[in-house]
Parts: sequence; C-alpha cells; structure tokens
Amino acid sequence: MPGRAHRPVLLREAVEALACRAGGLWVDGTVGAGGHSEAILRATAPDGRLLAIDRDAGAVETARRHLAVFGERVILRHADYRRLPALLDEIDAPAVSGILLDLGVSSLQLDDPGRGFSFRDDGPLDMRLDRAQATTAADLVNTLPEGRLASILKEFGEEPRAGHIARAIARSRRRAPIRTTHALADIVASAAPRRGPARIHPATRTFQALRIAVNDEIEGLDRLLEQSVGRLEPGGRIVVIAFHSLEDRVVKNTLRGLTRHCICPRDLPVCACGEPGQVRLVTPRAIRPSAAEARDNPRSRSARLRAAERLDPSTGRAVARPEGRE
Ligand SMILES: C[S@@+](CC[C@H](N)C(=O)[O-])C[C@H]1O[C@@H](n2cnc3c(N)ncnc32)[C@H](O)[C@@H]1O
Repeated sequence: MPGRAHRPVLLREAVEALACRAGGLWVDGTVGAGGHSEAILRATAPDGRLLAIDRDAGAVETARRHLAVFGERVILRHADYRRLPALLDEIDAPAVSGILLDLGVSSLQLDDPGRGFSFRDDGPLDMRLDRAQATTAADLVNTLPEGRLASILKEFGEEPRAGHIARAIARSRRRAPIRTTHALADIVASAAPRRGPARIHPATRTFQALRIAVNDEIEGLDRLLEQSVGRLEPGGRIVVIAFHSLEDRVVKNTLRGLTRHCICPRDLPVCACGEPGQVRLVTPRAIRPSAAEARDNPRSRSARLRAAERLDPSTGRAVARPEGRE
C-alpha cells in the first residue's frame, strides 16, 4: 500500500543552514522522496549539482522521478551514506559545498505495512532500509539470546522495561516464531502495559530499538561526520537532522569535538596556537520545528537540526561570506 507523501522536515531551516548558492557540488545523503533535494537544487540553480544517496532502492527510484526535471544536475546513488568518501572519489570530487543528512525513515517507508517499520497496520516484521540486506527484524527477534535483546531495547530504545519485554519475547517465540508487527506489538503491550496517561504506545521504543539494530544506524555515524567535514570546502557546511536522542547525541558530540582545540583569542585573524578546530558551530543549540510545523506535521516534533561550517584550514578562521549571507 503506498504511503502518504513524505513532508520534508525543517525544510527552510535546512536550506538556510546549508547557505546554498548557485553552483558547486552538494550532497543529500538521505534523499528519501527528494523534498530536501529539490529545495537544494532550486537554491543552487542554475548550475549547482547534487549527489543524492539513499540506502533504500525504492526511495532512489521515487527520488529519480521527483528530481527528473533537474536533468544532469542530479547524480543518484543507491548506497549507504557511510560510503560517502568512496562515492565522492568515484565521481572525482575531492571537495563539496555542503552536505545534508536527514536521518531515520521517511513517511513512505513508515506508512508501508509491507516494510514492517510500524505497528499501526499489520505487516511482516522486516524493518530493513536496504532490502538486499539479509537480516530482518524477525531474524533478530526470533534468534538473539534474551540478554542481547534486552540490551538492544535498553540501549537503542531507552526502554525502561527492556528485561521484561525481552523475557516475554523469549517465552512467546518458544511457542511459535514471531513474524508480524501486530504479533510483536501485542507481546510488548501485554508485558509492559501503558501506565498512566502516557502518550506513546508501549511498543514504540521496542520498534525504534529494533529498527536501529536491524540497520546498524548508529555505528559509524561519528566517523562519517568527521570524514564528511574533511571533504567540505572551506566555508562549506554540514547540516544534520536527527529524530531521536541517541542519534542527536552522536551528532552534537562529534561536531563539538571538531570545534575544540584552538585556544587563541577570537579576534586574532590567524590561529597561532597550532591547534585550530576544523569547524565552527552554526547552531550552538539545535534548531527545533516551529509550533506551526509541529502542529501541521506531528512527525516533525522530535526533529533537531544541527549545522557546522568548515573553517579555512590555512588560518583556522571562518571564511568571509558575501554581504547579506550569514
Ligand atoms: C527522513 S528520510 C529523508 C527524507 C528526505 N529528506 C525527503 O525530503 O524526502 C530518511 C531517508 O534516509 C535513508 N537512510 C537512512 N539511513 C541511511 C544510510 N545509512 N544511508 C543512506 N540512506 C539512509 C532512508 O532510507 C530514508 O529514505
């Protein structure tokens, strides 16, 4: 069943934070349905090019149709964004003008019961972003030792009742394998029923944790951010939108780590301490959706956008921007 159209989150804020301008090579590491990509292509017209990547072959096809009007300005790749350095080498691009990562899943994926990301409708317990990958959520749920399941729920779902839920899963799968989203959601709901006026369904954290584990979503994100910054032109920006606190923490700490080092007074035109940071933070605090966006698109509510700008490696200072641009 086709899902609702995906509504790009923090769209204006992301394009502004990227400081898009005509020309250059830009990267959208999570093209999805292509909403952010379209906005970047418009803001970099007439000749800016975009490398658009997604791990989901279906998303790449949707984006290919959506972005067809931009012709050869778009280079689409079905790949994991963690391969970005290799993908840039393949197109002979030593440096790029800006990089966007809008992490997680799209509404097209979430609303398709056949993908198994959500328990709203029943479907196979799949959750693979890349369907060429062998391991599904059902494989993890039915084969992992109970203790490992509990630690996944705790670490990736921040689920306070992880042990309880893992025990219930282990008990249930001894009778019959757990194959569908509704079967798993029912097991979780009876093991850890909703207490008090909680807004979220008791299985929400379990589903988030399994999705992160199936797709190995956190592993290597910090390294990719560091490598991405290394491929930005001086003055180029990286913008990341995260939808849960684990991911946002990695983004925040990694970008902060890349700023630390320089101890010179700020008004010194060239860093003299020999330890310039690689970036300056464009958003010292994360940007959140406006009240209007959160109301119009409830899925945007947990989004946090962070951006950093590559410093000039020869001075350790920010690159001067044309008048009128932040
Ligand atoms: C929130 S959606 C992006 C929506 C997009 N910005 C738009 O406007 O339509 C996230 C997308 O990232 C993709 N994705 C998640 N992890 C990925 C990874 N490691 N490499 C490449 N794509 C990934 C998902 O398949 C999904 O299509």
